[in-house]
Amino acid sequence: MNSLVRRTHQLHQLWRTYCSAPASAASRTAGRPSYEEFIGQHQQQAQRSIVVQVSSEKSYAELYNYCSRFGSILGAHHYCVRQDEALHYVLLEYATAGEAAAAIDAGVTNGDLSGVPVRSPFLWFRAAAAAGARRGPKLASQPAPTALLSIDGNRPAEQEHLLIVLRGARDIEEQVQLLHQHSRLNELGVRLRFLAALQVQQAISGMFPAAQALPFGSSVNGFGKMGCDLDLILRFDNDTGGGGGGHQEPSRLVYHTKENLSNGRSQTQRHMECFGDMLHLFLPGVCHVRRILQARVPIIKYHHEHLDLEIDLSMSNLTGYYMSELLYMFGELDVRVRPLTFSIRRWAQACGLTNPSPGRWISNFSLTCLVMFFLQQLRQPILPTISALAKAAEPSDMRITEDGINCSFGRDLERLGFRSRNQSSLSELLLQFFEFYSQFDFHNRAISLNEGRALAKPDHSAMYIVNPLEQLLNVSKNVSLEECERLRIEVRNAAWVLESEVESASLSPEAGEGHGSHNERLEMSWGLLNLFKQPEKAVIRPNMFFKPRMVEVSDLFEQKEAS
Ligand code: CTP
Ligand code: MG
Repeated sequence: MNSLVRRTHQLHQLWRTYCSAPASAASRTAGRPSYEEFIGQHQQQAQRSIVVQVSSEKSYAELYNYCSRFGSILGAHHYCVRQDEALHYVLLEYATAGEAAAAIDAGVTNGDLSGVPVRSPFLWFRAAAAAGARRGPKLASQPAPTALLSIDGNRPAEQEHLLIVLRGARDIEEQVQLLHQHSRLNELGVRLRFLAALQVQQAISGMFPAAQALPFGSSVNGFGKMGCDLDLILRFDNDTGGGGGGHQEPSRLVYHTKENLSNGRSQTQRHMECFGDMLHLFLPGVCHVRRILQARVPIIKYHHEHLDLEIDLSMSNLTGYYMSELLYMFGELDVRVRPLTFSIRRWAQACGLTNPSPGRWISNFSLTCLVMFFLQQLRQPILPTISALAKAAEPSDMRITEDGINCSFGRDLERLGFRSRNQSSLSELLLQFFEFYSQFDFHNRAISLNEGRALAKPDHSAMYIVNPLEQLLNVSKNVSLEECERLRIEVRNAAWVLESEVESASLSPEAGEGHGSHNERLEMSWGLLNLFKQPEKAVIRPNMFFKPRMVEVSDLFEQKEAS
C-alpha cells in the first residue's frame, strides 16, 4: 500500500509539471491531426504491426532478435489478456508495412495441431526446440536494443490506485483532470483496435481490394476509456461519401457484378449474415459471434480473444462514423471538453444512470450529447453549433452518404477560427452542468446540437435529442419517462453535493485547504469522490422519492459502464 501511495505521489508530481503551463485551446489544436489524419495514421501503423503471443514478457529479447530478420523494429508493447491465467502478447511495430508482411508471410501453420490455416497479423512464438531450430547464436542471450514501451500496457487503472490518485489531488479541478488522465483509452488500446479493424479488412481483400474497416465511436473520438468496445463499419469500397477521384477519366472497362437485391436492407442483412459466418469460422481470435440483424442498424457482435475486446461490426452506419468525427473535433476544440465529459460519464455510471446493456436508460452517447449541448448554450459558448460548422464547409468537406445524408461540415479547426472567451474552471463547469439539467424542461423541449438551443419537442418521447446528422431521428428515443425523471433527480443531487464540496474547499483562503491537509485528504473521500458516492445526506432533501443506494466509493469503480 505504501509503495502504491509513493508511486501515486510521483505520478502527481509529473502531472503537476505537465499541467503547470496550461495550454490555451488554440495552441492545443494547432498542429494536431484532423480526424481523417488520425484515422489514416493509425491504419498505416496497424499495417506495420504484428501481434505475437509469447510465454511472458521475458521472451521479448528472443522475439526481438528473431523478428529483426524481417525488418527494423520501431517499437514494442507488451500486454496481457486475463482468462484463467494471464496470456502474454507483444505488439511489434516495423518501419514499413512490407516488413510486417514479410514477418507474417514467414509464419507457418502448426503441423501438430489442426486449425484453419488463415494468414493474419496474430501469431505465436514457439520454443526454438519445437521449431527444430539449428544451433546458432543464442537469441535470448542478446538483449533487445530497445526496451518494451509498455508492460501489461492494456490494463485499466486499478480501482484502488485511482481512488488514491483522486484523494491525493490538490483540488476538484485536478481530480477532474486526473480522472481523465488515468481512465482514458491509451495509445496501445488504440493500436489494438486498429489491428482488429485491419484483420477484418484483410480477410475480405481478395474479393474487395478496396474494402475499408473503419473504427468509429469512443475508440477514436477521444471519449473512450480503457476497455471500451470497438465500433467498426465495414465498407466494400473506400468511398466514404467524399466523391474523391472524380476528376479522373472514367474507365471504359467495367466490372461484371452480381445484381443488387431490390431491398437494400435485406441485402445488408444477408451480407452480414454471411460475414458473421466467415468471422466465426475463419478468423483467428474471433469468438462469441452474435448477429443482431433486426436492429435499426444491423450489427454483428463478437469478442476478440487475442485483443480482449468486444467488437460491434456494422455495414450501414456511415453517419455514426461522421458523428464520431464531430465529437472528435469538439474534443479538440477545447481542452476542458474531454475531462469534463469523463467526470460526467463516471458520475452517471456510479449512480446507475448508465448501464452496460442497452435498454430504457440513457446511453453514454446521449449523455455525451447532453454535455456538448450544455457547452454550446453557455452565455460564452465553449463549443460552436453544428450549423455553424456546416456553414463553414468548403468543397473539400463535402460528404454525402449513399442514403443521401449530408455530413458536410468545416473540418479544419484552424480555419474555423472559433475561440471561446469562456474562462470557467472545470469544477465550475461541472456544477453549471448539473444546475443546467436540474432546470431543463425535458417535458416540452428537445435538445438541438445543430442550433445550440432547445426546440419544441416534436413528439412525446421522454427525452428528445435531435440526431445532429439525421435530424428526423431522436438519439435518446429509448429513454423511458422513469429514467428521464431519475436523471433529473440525480443531477439535482449532484448539484447539491458538488456545491457543498466547492464551499468546503473555499473555507480556507488557501485553495484546496478546506478539505484538510494533504495527508488528511489522502485518508478521506472528498470532491469528485463524494459526487460519485451519492452520500446518504442527499436522500433526505425534500422531494426526493428514490430509494437510497449505499454505494461505497471502493465499489464504484467495479460497476461497468454502458456501451
Ligand atoms: N451513434 C449515432 N447515433 C446514435 C447512436 C450512436 O450517431 N443514436 C454513433 C456515435 O458516433 C457514437 C457511435 O455511433 O459515438 C458508437 O455508438 P456507441 O457505441 O453507442 O457509443 P460510444 O460513443 O462508442 O460510447 P461507448 O464507450 O459507450 O461505446
Ligand atoms: Mg462504442
